[in-house]
Amino acid sequence: MEGQEKQVTGYLLFSLATAVIGSLQFGYNTGVINAPEEKLRSFFNDTWVERYGESISPGVCTIVWSIAVAIFSVGGMVGSFSVGVMANRFGRRRSMFLVNSLAVIGGLLMGLSTICSSYEMVIAGRLVIGLFCGLFTGLTPMYVGEVSPTPLRGAFGTLHQLGVVVGILIAQIFGLEALLGSEKLWPLLLALTVVPAVLQCILLPFCPESPRFLLINLKQEEQARKALVRLRGTEDVSKDMQEMKEESAKMAKEKKVTIAELFRSAAYRQPLLIAVMLQLSQQLSGINAVFYYSTGIFASAGVKQPIYATIGAGIVNTIFTVVSLFLVEKAGRRTLHLLGLGGMAVSALLMTISLLLKHIPVMSYLAIVAVMLFVAMFEMGPGPIPWFIVAELFSQGPRPAAMAVAGCCNWTANFLVGMSFPKLVEVCGPWVFLIFAGFLVLFFIFTFIKVPETKGKTFDEIARSFGGPPPNAASPSEDPAATTSAAVALPASPVKE
Ligand code: GLC
Repeated sequence: MEGQEKQVTGYLLFSLATAVIGSLQFGYNTGVINAPEEKLRSFFNDTWVERYGESISPGVCTIVWSIAVAIFSVGGMVGSFSVGVMANRFGRRRSMFLVNSLAVIGGLLMGLSTICSSYEMVIAGRLVIGLFCGLFTGLTPMYVGEVSPTPLRGAFGTLHQLGVVVGILIAQIFGLEALLGSEKLWPLLLALTVVPAVLQCILLPFCPESPRFLLINLKQEEQARKALVRLRGTEDVSKDMQEMKEESAKMAKEKKVTIAELFRSAAYRQPLLIAVMLQLSQQLSGINAVFYYSTGIFASAGVKQPIYATIGAGIVNTIFTVVSLFLVEKAGRRTLHLLGLGGMAVSALLMTISLLLKHIPVMSYLAIVAVMLFVAMFEMGPGPIPWFIVAELFSQGPRPAAMAVAGCCNWTANFLVGMSFPKLVEVCGPWVFLIFAGFLVLFFIFTFIKVPETKGKTFDEIARSFGGPPPNAASPSEDPAATTSAAVALPASPVKE
């Protein structure tokens, strides 16, 4: 959409900030469980002694601990998969509002677990919080993508990841023993998630519903116009309205797309493949091997105070997300994603070298540099881009279903890496990061060949680049199923099939 001004109003920023509280919650709950591990384990033991008069066996304790950690991702898979149904049924804004009740339930379950002497409540709480976070990994990027002006959709899309990384950092800092990571206060650390949930519920009624949802799904043209006027700060929203109406007209027949239809229709095959592969590239890069286990990685490379190196990684993580936010509209999504994947592959090699040669003292510094570089490169592209590009690759009809499928793939891969990494370390020792380097190279090649640039294009222009109008709007002479004959002119892709 050339010539469209970059309209940024205080009201738009307020609405984005409110939505991004959901991202902060996802980051916080991802990072919060690591620091208090020992305290939780001794709580499991205390409950056991109280009930059965004997200590919990180390094996059982580890099982309970692993379940408490992993069930979060299981909740995330289910939550992210349900996002389409909710977003279409209740709208984006009301869904966010309703979903916060899960944070309150989950936070209370975990916060009251010691008072009730029940470790089951920690596990149940983590499951509910996982559901909550899974829903928000779809709802926030969808809402942000739909309210942002086209020229700034990438920069604002990156706000979701910025919320995530700030959330992780807050959790790392609050989790320090001297703050909330102590024997007494850890239930509060886990329950703290209730506060942003309540805050978001107070702020949401002042935010608009997504104008796209109002116009395209509910056909409330006047309401949509009003919301846009407030968001853009100008009476002249005809361009946005025109663009949404065109999209709406094209979609008139296909309406809401279910997940099954998403898989069946050839028109969505290309964008769906790209969306899923980008999610996998984010998780199989091994980023969470670092975030879940960095303290151990630093320790095994001979770093003296690993916890501070971990917090250092959290800080680098945040800084580079901000860098990406400023670059993404200039450099483009595709370039940054390629740069990030390539840089991560190199960092993974450096990490392997530092672990292999750890008997040489200077290698502990190389380990720190390699991990920081790995994290920095992740945030240049593979961190933020997959989350918001899905909303860009699909038009209003299939968007919620696509977000659900993509989110679920992300959470599943996250779960698999989290569960298998300790075992992989056992089997591969210092070579373990080469596995991720291999994945990174594969995803680099895929991105190079298949991923188009979406910078500055309207949703409709992007949808069209994947093979013309959606199935039912195809001209009569065209076979709808053939509209996407593989990779029809993926615009920015230098390699043609
Ligand atoms: C992304 C990933 C998440 C990871 C985080 C690290 O949001 O989805 O799994 O923990 O980045 O910054």
